[in-house]
Amino acid sequence: MLVRSLEKIFNRIFKPKVQKSTVYQLGNPALREIARPISDVQDREIQQLIDEMLITLTESKGVGLAAPQIGRSLQLVIIASHPNARYPHAPQMEPTAMINPKIISHSFETEKGWEGCLSVPMIRGLVPRYREIEIEYTDRQGDRQLAKLTDFVARIFQHEYDHLEGKVFLDRVETTLDMATEAEYQNILQTSVQSNAAHKS
Ligand code: NI
Repeated sequence: MLVRSLEKIFNRIFKPKVQKSTVYQLGNPALREIARPISDVQDREIQQLIDEMLITLTESKGVGLAAPQIGRSLQLVIIASHPNARYPHAPQMEPTAMINPKIISHSFETEKGWEGCLSVPMIRGLVPRYREIEIEYTDRQGDRQLAKLTDFVARIFQHEYDHLEGKVFLDRVETTLDMATEAEYQNILQTSVQSNAAHKS
């Protein structure tokens, strides 16, 4: 009990309150910069940036966020797949911070799937992405990790990785025919749910 209260007091004094950040919107030149690698993961500012991004992502109900989206041109992304209204079939995972991520290899095969972006509100687009990728990154403890990602999680990663190279998903949409407003996207989702149900019955 005493330890708990001391910890609370310590946190109040030494840990600055982490707040949700403003997400920069399409047109802001910050989204077009090439992000710099992070040299010291343990740096307090970097750890705080990770916490800020986690809060921003949770409050925006997003599945991924890259540091340039909150105006920090650094190679840091958060991947946080979870099922929600926009992606009802998304797998559930612990939000994961990936520092200095790299794509080591990828499948030959690509697949088109719907994407949106907190920096591009109200618009959705069908984007071709590799179905499978092998990646490496440094985690927030500073350890280098290898991972194999597939389907939706691989898609999120490729989307966030693009942000580090100054790209947004609209740059990869093949034709404007593959674009939809958020409201029409919801209609498309409903229709596909109904047709799936019809196939099953
Ligand atoms: Ni995005």
